[in-house]
Amino acid sequence: MKRIGVLTSGGDAPGMNAAIRAVVRMAIFRGLEVIGIQRGYSGLVNGEFREMNLSSVADIIHRGGTVLRTARSESFRTPEGRKKAADNLRENCIEGLVIIGGDGSFRGARCLNDEHGVRFIGVPGTIDNDIPCTDYCIGFDTAVNNVLDAINKIRDTATSHERTYVIEVMGRNSGFIALEAGLAGGAESILIPEIEVKLDEVVEKLLRGHSRGKLHSVIIVAEGAASGLDICREIQEKTGFDTKVTILGHIQRGGSPTAFDRTVASRLGAMAVDLLIEGKERRVVGVVSGNLKDFDIDYALSQEKTINRSIYDLAGILAI
Ligand code: F6P
Repeated sequence: MKRIGVLTSGGDAPGMNAAIRAVVRMAIFRGLEVIGIQRGYSGLVNGEFREMNLSSVADIIHRGGTVLRTARSESFRTPEGRKKAADNLRENCIEGLVIIGGDGSFRGARCLNDEHGVRFIGVPGTIDNDIPCTDYCIGFDTAVNNVLDAINKIRDTATSHERTYVIEVMGRNSGFIALEAGLAGGAESILIPEIEVKLDEVVEKLLRGHSRGKLHSVIIVAEGAASGLDICREIQEKTGFDTKVTILGHIQRGGSPTAFDRTVASRLGAMAVDLLIEGKERRVVGVVSGNLKDFDIDYALSQEKTINRSIYDLAGILAI
């Protein structure tokens, strides 16, 4: 193997740059050439390739976003688009790809492998942390800390004005961000798609707290569970408390990655290169109980990542 490519796909996640840096530098260290593919699969189809060297990835480890840019490509969803992508790889003598992204990106890579034999290793990068076979996805820790920072700030106003705040967080169909930030932020209730909770239970808890003299509260709602706006309206109606909503949005995805995300990204990116050199393909790398592992893509995509129920219950007990 002489030359590999690297791309980032799907939503950007803080720490993707640290992963790109690790891929490029480990590949060069091992004697390979590296091509950076711009704008994810869209750049693969359009041939937006550039040669990477040691200095192409200098001064990026601390930056959020992705220097390779990212996109959600429509043309890559078509067989013609994927054929064009495979032709571009062949013409540029790229023998393997490192794909940094989420499950949609991995499904795309699997199609490319099924149809054209393109070798790839997937590196999980998504703030949603919803990729099975890894405890952590790149970007999750930073996103949780971004949410936590927001909760802390909102709490100041919640306390001062004796208000209830509903904070809607990202996560697409999963509640990992909501759960982790909710526990760390001492939220009174956490609504996530994985666990059914009746709004009346949330309301009862608020009323119980109020009767004990608790005059402010924070409720975290994962976007996949409900609309923060609706929950806010219902709580206001049912309790009569002064209730406000904050939808955090893309602020969660930005900013300098935490040390944890940089470390995970560096380790996973370097491992992906090693696996390609060993002749492996169709694998996804991950961190399981602190150790690096790799899994077959079919296995990884057939698994479901589950919420740790005991963490959810603990958050409820501690926020009584
Ligand atoms: O997958 C990451 C994520 O931020 C989700 O949490 C969210 O639902 C989605 O991307 C938002 O996508 P976009 O940035 O395209 O609006």
